[in-house]
Amino acid sequence: MCGIVGYCGNKQAAPILLEGLSKLEYRGYDSAGIAVRNGEDKVRIVKAKGRLQELANKTDDGKAMKGSCGIGHTRWATHGEPSENNAHPHHSEDYEVVGVHNGIIENYIEVKDKLLKQGYTFYSETDTEAVVKLIDYYYKKYKLGPVDAIAKTMVRVRGSYALAVMFKDYPDQIWVARKDSPMIIGVDSKASYIASDVPAILKYTRNVYYIGNMEMACLKNNEVHFYNIDGEEIGKDITRVEWDAEAAEKGGFEHFMMKEIHEQPKAVKDTINAYIKDNTIDFESVGISDEDLKKVSDIYISACGSAYHVGMVAQYIIEKLARVPVRVELASEFRYRNPIMGPDSMVIAISQSGETADTLAAIREAKSRGVKTMGIVNVVGSTIARESDHVMYTMAGPEIAVATTKAYSAQLIAMYLFAIKLAFVRGNIDKERQDALLEELKTLPGKIEKSLEDKERLQWFTAKFSNVHDVFFIGRGIDYAISLEGSLKMKEISYVHSGAYAAGELKHGTISLVEDGTLIIGVLTQSDLYEKTVSNMVEVKSRGAYLCGITSSGNYEIEDTADFTVYIPKTEEIFEASLAVIPLQLMGYYMSVARGLDVDKPRNLAKSVTVE
Ligand code: G6P
Repeated sequence: MCGIVGYCGNKQAAPILLEGLSKLEYRGYDSAGIAVRNGEDKVRIVKAKGRLQELANKTDDGKAMKGSCGIGHTRWATHGEPSENNAHPHHSEDYEVVGVHNGIIENYIEVKDKLLKQGYTFYSETDTEAVVKLIDYYYKKYKLGPVDAIAKTMVRVRGSYALAVMFKDYPDQIWVARKDSPMIIGVDSKASYIASDVPAILKYTRNVYYIGNMEMACLKNNEVHFYNIDGEEIGKDITRVEWDAEAAEKGGFEHFMMKEIHEQPKAVKDTINAYIKDNTIDFESVGISDEDLKKVSDIYISACGSAYHVGMVAQYIIEKLARVPVRVELASEFRYRNPIMGPDSMVIAISQSGETADTLAAIREAKSRGVKTMGIVNVVGSTIARESDHVMYTMAGPEIAVATTKAYSAQLIAMYLFAIKLAFVRGNIDKERQDALLEELKTLPGKIEKSLEDKERLQWFTAKFSNVHDVFFIGRGIDYAISLEGSLKMKEISYVHSGAYAAGELKHGTISLVEDGTLIIGVLTQSDLYEKTVSNMVEVKSRGAYLCGITSSGNYEIEDTADFTVYIPKTEEIFEASLAVIPLQLMGYYMSVARGLDVDKPRNLAKSVTVE
């Protein structure tokens, strides 16, 4: 949700900013802009509505803008329509203060009113212009320098922000401030960088600082100084990011999504290997003890989007294996629901980015009530990772496509491991069962690889239905949870209306939508529910539906019912989500391609949603 970058060094900034923004475009892509300063010269700002390419064209790939210090922004509109005028960077009237912002300033109207009374005028509808001008106001009124002006602004505004600001009087410096929106600062031997996310700077450096909430920093060449809200300088340690720079490139695939679909065997394997040592699950890095796990009375899983669907799968597995009650809550609901939690409850937040505002709020809500929290997070050092009592990192590497695939798969593995560990320490499963489950878990990367081999057939099938209006996904138990993810993958990138239903629920309303040729995809991986779902498929077939069945190899009698069948390798039934999701991801992908859409950047979406 909006991406920001900055560069301060001795090279030309604009091409570096554009390159960085291209790695963040998944965060927002309705407009973009950069501001570059060349020593004492006037700042130059160029903005463009639409994709980043428009900005690249306008600036001759950045070559037309001279200057070695600059900031850039790619926008996902919150306040004010997508337009060049509303695009960042924003500036004070005299261009002395220029800034970019990610987040939302909730009281910006109030701030604007205050500034209007002081004679300020406004050219855009954004909250960002109000913040930049508030900094300008304090800077000129008190004349105490950037730290003072920014700190006063931070105290005055409410909401979330990652801000990067340049001042005319400090031509070779970038000033940043952060509250509840992501921002990292990278340094190499000659320069410093800012970015909303790691992929933007991986090409240049792996040495990063994480700036804390309500903190500020000043970048000048390769020097970075940090300040607290009282303006006192504070120390910070550098962290080394282990992600591979190649991971943020397409590597021969047409889209990031397809590349990431193919990276799933590795993401799964790396996540398994991170936690299985000598055939047992080692949670030392998570920092949660067996004693802690024995005490857990009930679990809330809170997440958004696909991560919520992982929670749905996990609910079935934890309850089945460990017999601990689990409730899965959309994070946006959890935070306002006053959930009932006891002293031994546990809240698990699942998040790829570790920055999703609602999921973060769920962790904070739990912590404020003294409830133990654990984050299942992909991005190292992200806010949810830092604020949770315990973190289980997924090893998916950087995920660029807006529609998640490999992070979803890695999150499933983390939840399987957690469920097995919980069940084992509580004595719900014995060593033999644990060992068998872990052995089977290790076969999943190979089985995912095998499931990918069916992709040409899926492409053919999906292309046949590229004009379809509605697709329904049905299943029971874990298969229902998988259907939810299949449906989201379909609609979010192909814009085909789709819905997922517990198969038994269809006849309570939705079945009236079924007519000749309606595409219904049944997921049937759970043997005890197989026949029940087949019956529900027969019910819709007799009303004209076209049926696709996704089931484990061996269930060949499905061909008596389904018009098109996809077989996935057999595995432990509690792990089936990891295999059944593969054809569903591929169907969403091929539907989007067949309809000529932008697979990696679907309209109106952002990968990391840092506002409520
Ligand atoms: C956005 C993305 C989804 C993702 C969700 C949660 O809506 O488009 O793919 O599942 O956010 O993101 P998180 O980073 O918390 O997993």
